[in-house]
Amino acid sequence: MATFKPLFISFEGIDGSGKSTQCKMLYHDLLDRGYSVHLFREPGGTRISEKIRDILLDNENMEMSAITEMLLYFASRNQLITEKLTPALKRGEIVLLDRFVDSTIAYQGYGRNLSLESIQKVADVAIGEVRPDLTILVDTPLETAEDRMDDRELDRLEAENEDFKQQTRNGYLQLARKEPQRFLVLDGRESIEVLKRTITERVNQLLETAS
Ligand code: TMP
Repeated sequence: MATFKPLFISFEGIDGSGKSTQCKMLYHDLLDRGYSVHLFREPGGTRISEKIRDILLDNENMEMSAITEMLLYFASRNQLITEKLTPALKRGEIVLLDRFVDSTIAYQGYGRNLSLESIQKVADVAIGEVRPDLTILVDTPLETAEDRMDDRELDRLEAENEDFKQQTRNGYLQLARKEPQRFLVLDGRESIEVLKRTITERVNQLLETAS
């Protein structure tokens, strides 16, 4: 069953927030219900974007400047938009995206202290008017998120200090306050099942208006 009206949903949150679990569950649920749905991750989702991801997350690249980092996230994003996201939306399909531009504003803007104006200028070039219909922010306190990542090997961003992560989390909350219509903010300490139920209810409402 195609939706015929495109639907673009992004998932956001700090590392260990639990957003990827929710994103995958929603994807499988929609597939089971017969929708034409795609799940991509950022950075990544295309052959070129996955190569950019490797550069971004490589622990050997510690000398990467904040601006190089920001530009690479947008380069990966533009490739994904051009190659996969826009074509899928044009076909009237659903796209779920594990992170989008809010990640860059939260991590590189609030976390790395790059100016939000400069990020916006690059966004104008790299993503234009493309914005999600709904952004699900799984807001999780640092301690809870870090407990969940305890036994994982950390990549370059995950290995950042506490201040960076706290600023990133605060950045997300500020973004959500600025655009309450687009954001659904969830408490990441809730159980997987409770989160799933809330997300399904909201997405069902969107699907009803989309069909
Ligand atoms: P992931 O672990 O959720 O796949 O994301 C990869 C890492 O990249 C994660 O630590 C968040 C970070 N990131 C940014 O710093 N800026 C961005 O624009 C994106 C998309 C991710």
